[in-house]
Amino acid sequence: MAGRIVKEDIESLRDMVDVAQIVGDHTSLKKAGARLKGLCPFHGEKTPSFTVDPARGLYHCFGCGEGGDVYDFLQKIEGLTFVEAVEQVARRVGYELHYEELSAGQRKAIGERSRLVAAHHAALEFFQQQLYAEAGAVAREYLKSRGFGRDEADQFKIGFAPLDWEALAKHLLAQRFGQDELVKSGLVARNDRGGVRDRFRGRLMFPVLDLNGDPIGFGGRILPDLDYGEHTPPKYLNTPETPIYRKHKVLYGMSWARADVVRSGEVLICEGYTDVMALHQAGYTNAAATCGTAVGEDHFKLLSRYAQRVVLAFDSDEAGAKAAERAWRIAKEHDVDVRVLIMPAGKDPADVVRDGGADHLAKLVEEAPPVAPFVLERAVQAHDLTTPEGRAAAVSSAAPVLADVVDPVLRREYAKHYVADVVGLALDVVAQSLRAAGVEVAGTGSGHIGGRAGVGPVQAARPSTARRPGAGLNPAARRASLERDVLRLALQRPDLLPDAWYQVTEDDFTHPKARAVFRALRDAGGPGTALEAVLEQAADDDARALVRGIALEDGEVEPDPAHAATLVNRLLVARVEQEVAWVKSELQAVNETTDPARHRELFRRLMQLEQQRRELSEVPE
Ligand code: UTP
Ligand code: MN
Repeated sequence: MAGRIVKEDIESLRDMVDVAQIVGDHTSLKKAGARLKGLCPFHGEKTPSFTVDPARGLYHCFGCGEGGDVYDFLQKIEGLTFVEAVEQVARRVGYELHYEELSAGQRKAIGERSRLVAAHHAALEFFQQQLYAEAGAVAREYLKSRGFGRDEADQFKIGFAPLDWEALAKHLLAQRFGQDELVKSGLVARNDRGGVRDRFRGRLMFPVLDLNGDPIGFGGRILPDLDYGEHTPPKYLNTPETPIYRKHKVLYGMSWARADVVRSGEVLICEGYTDVMALHQAGYTNAAATCGTAVGEDHFKLLSRYAQRVVLAFDSDEAGAKAAERAWRIAKEHDVDVRVLIMPAGKDPADVVRDGGADHLAKLVEEAPPVAPFVLERAVQAHDLTTPEGRAAAVSSAAPVLADVVDPVLRREYAKHYVADVVGLALDVVAQSLRAAGVEVAGTGSGHIGGRAGVGPVQAARPSTARRPGAGLNPAARRASLERDVLRLALQRPDLLPDAWYQVTEDDFTHPKARAVFRALRDAGGPGTALEAVLEQAADDDARALVRGIALEDGEVEPDPAHAATLVNRLLVARVEQEVAWVKSELQAVNETTDPARHRELFRRLMQLEQQRRELSEVPE
C-alpha cells in the first residue's frame, strides 16, 4: 500500500464494478425485477431479505440493516480496511489505481489497528488451546459447575489464561509481535526488568468481539480452585483502554446478539459475561452486557440503532438500581422504550435462569415495567415518609421524574400510584406541589390538559408493551408505517407523487428517523434527485442506512397514481387530526368568560382545521 488512493479512482471504480457479482461470491442471488435478492450473508435467515440494486451499486438487508456500496460490503464481509477493499475491486476489474502520498501518521494508525486486532486473534487462539490443555482442567471444571458445556465454550470462544507470568507473552513474541505493540494491546504489561508479563493469569477468558466478530479485548474471571498466593486478585479483570478497546462503547455479546436484536427490536442488557452466556443458553439470543462499566451514552447510541426496546437486566441490588437510574437519565435523550427487569433481591439473570428456568425469565421480561415508575418509586422511598418534611421532600424529588413522562394519562397514573398513594396524600395536594415545581398533572386543578402549556399537539403515546414492536398495530406503529410508505414512494416513484406532496413538511413525520429521511431528501433537492445526493445529505450513518433501505425495499402493493395520492393524503389528514385533537383539549381547558380572546382564537382555528379536513377527504380514494 503506497498511500492514499485518489478520489476519482475510487468513484470511477465504484461505477465500473458490478456489485452483484462481488456480492454473488458470498450468497446466491436471484433476479427480482430490477433488483436481486438472496439470503443475507451477515446474519442467519431462512427467507431472503437481502437486496442488491445493481443500477445504483448498492446492497441492503431488511433483516439486519446492513447495507452500503461494494466497498462497504467487502469491508464487512471480509474484514478488509477501506483501502484493501478498493484494491481488491481494482484487481478484479483490472484497473490501475493512482495513489497520493499518505502521511506517516495516517499510515501508522491504519497499520496499528490491524496489528492490535491480529494480536488479539492470536491470543484468543492461544487461550482456547490452553482451555483444552492439561492445566485447563480447572477451568473446564469450573465452566461445567456453572452449567456451561463444550457448546457454550465454543460459541463464546471461551479460553483459559494459565497461572503463569509470561505464557502468553512468550507465545506472542515468538509470533513476531513486538513488545511495544503488545503493551499497547493491553494483553501484557511492562515488568520491572524492562520486559513484559501477562496481564491475565489463571483466569477463565471471555473474549470481547467487535461487531465484525474481531476480538478487541478480554474479560478474565478468577477460578475458585486456583491458588493465587497472598493477594486475592479482583474477581474480574478487563482489558484496559487501548486504541481498539473503549469500554464505554463496547457491549459484550453484541456481535452474536445483533441479528436477533434487529429482528425482535428488543435487547436485554445485563451486567456480566456469565449473564450473557446464561441468557443466550436459555434462548435469549438478544442479550448483551457492558464490560466492567455502567451503561452510558455511547452504549445507548449503539443500541438505539438496532432496538426500540431496551430491557435492563441488572443485578437486583443497590448498584443495579443505581445503574438503572443512570440509564433512565441517558435514555431520555434517545428514542427507545426502556424497561427494568425486576428480579428477586440479590439475584442476577443467570441466577434466575438457573433457579426458575427460561420460562420464569420469560415471564419477568414480559412483565418488565417501564423504567420511569421504577425510578419514581426509588426517589419517593428514599425519604422518611413518617414526617411531613419527609413527605414533602418525597414529592419534590418525584417532580423531575414526572416531568419527563410526556403522556398526560400516564403522568397522572404515576403521580397517583407511585407518589400520592405511597406518600399518603390526596392526588390534588400532590399535584399542587408538583405544579409549584413546574409539573402539571392533568385533571387536577386549573392546569392545561396535555401537560405544560404551549407544547403543541399532543405527542403520540409510546409503543405499547408488545414484545415484538410493530406486530400489534397500535396507532404509533400504523403512523410509522404510513410515513415509511410515503417516503418509499418519494424515493422510488417520484413520478407518481400528487400535487399535494408540496404541502408535506418535515412536521408531518412524527418518527424521528422518518423525519431525518425526509430532511435528507428535501435538502438534496426533493423527489427525483439522484439517490447518491440524498445519501450525501443524510445526517449520519443511521440516516444513510435508512435512506438506502427505503429506496431499495418493496412495498406491499405495486404503487399507482391513485394509491400514491391516498398515501400522501392520509399523511396530511393525520397532521390535521392531530392538531384538531390538541385544539379541542385546549378548548376544554380554557375558560370562555375569563379568557374570551383565547377561546375565540382556538375556536377559529378549529373551524379552519375542520375545513381543511373536509377538503382533504374530497380526494378520491
Ligand atoms: P458480578 O460480580 O455481578 O459478576 O460482576 P457476575 O457476572 O455475576 O459473575 P459471576 O457470576 O460471579 O461469575 C458483573 C460484571 O462486573 C464487572 C465484570 O464485567 C462482571 O461481568 N466486574 C465485576 C469487574 O469488572 N471487576 C470485578 O472485580 C467484578
Ligand atoms: Mn452478577
